[in-house]
Amino acid sequence: MGKLLFATTNPGKLRELRELMGGDLEVVSLADLPPLPEVDEDQPTFEGNAEKKARAYAAASELPTLADDSGLCVEALGGRPGVQSARYGDSDADRIRRLLKALEDVPVEGRRAEFRCVLCLAKPIGEAVLELGRCEGRILFAPRGANGFGYDPVFEVAGGSRTMAELSSVEKSAVSHRGIAFRKMRPHLLALGGAGHR
Ligand code: IMP
Repeated sequence: MGKLLFATTNPGKLRELRELMGGDLEVVSLADLPPLPEVDEDQPTFEGNAEKKARAYAAASELPTLADDSGLCVEALGGRPGVQSARYGDSDADRIRRLLKALEDVPVEGRRAEFRCVLCLAKPIGEAVLELGRCEGRILFAPRGANGFGYDPVFEVAGGSRTMAELSSVEKSAVSHRGIAFRKMRPHLLALGGAGHR
C-alpha cells in the first residue's frame, strides 16, 4: 500500500481524509513524523500556499505529500479575509465579531461569500497536482449552530436555510469546499498506491 504525508496537525482534517480514503492509502500526519522545518504560509493565493507547503514537506519527508490551504472569501470585502482567514482575529469568536462588524451596513443581498479549499499533491520530485473546492453561501447577521469551527456559525450554505454549524459532519463534508476538493483529489491519491479506483 502507498504511503502519504498529509501536511497538517489538525486532527479533524486528518480524520476526514482517512475516511475518504477508506484504507486504500496509509495516511500519516506531521504529528506522526520527527519535527520538520515549519513552512511559512506567506503566498498571496490559496494555490500558492498549498503548493509551497506540499513541495517543501515532500522534499523534507521524501514522501508524497498533500497540503491544503483554505479560507472564507466575502464578495463585499473584495474577497477578504481570503488567505488571511486564520489571522483575521485572535480566536474564532474574535474573527466572527470582526467580520460581522465589517459587514454591519451591508444588506442581505450584498452578503454573498464562499469558502475555498485548495489541495496540492506533490511528490519529492516531479509535477504537483492542484484541486479546488468551493462552497457558496452568505454571511448572516448573527451566529447560529454549534457544530464545525471557524466561520461556520455565520455562513449560511446556498440552497438551504442552515448554517455550516447546523450541519452534521457528514452533511458538511457532502457540500463543503474541503469535501469537494478531497473527492476531486481522490483519484490522484489512489494512483499513488497503485490500488484500483472504486
Ligand atoms: P487553514 O486552511 O487551516 O489555514 O484555515 C484557514 C482558516 O479559514 C481557518 O482558520 C478558518 O478560520 C477558515 N476556514 C477554513 N475552512 C473552514 C470551514 O470549513 N469552516 C469555517 N472556517 C473555515
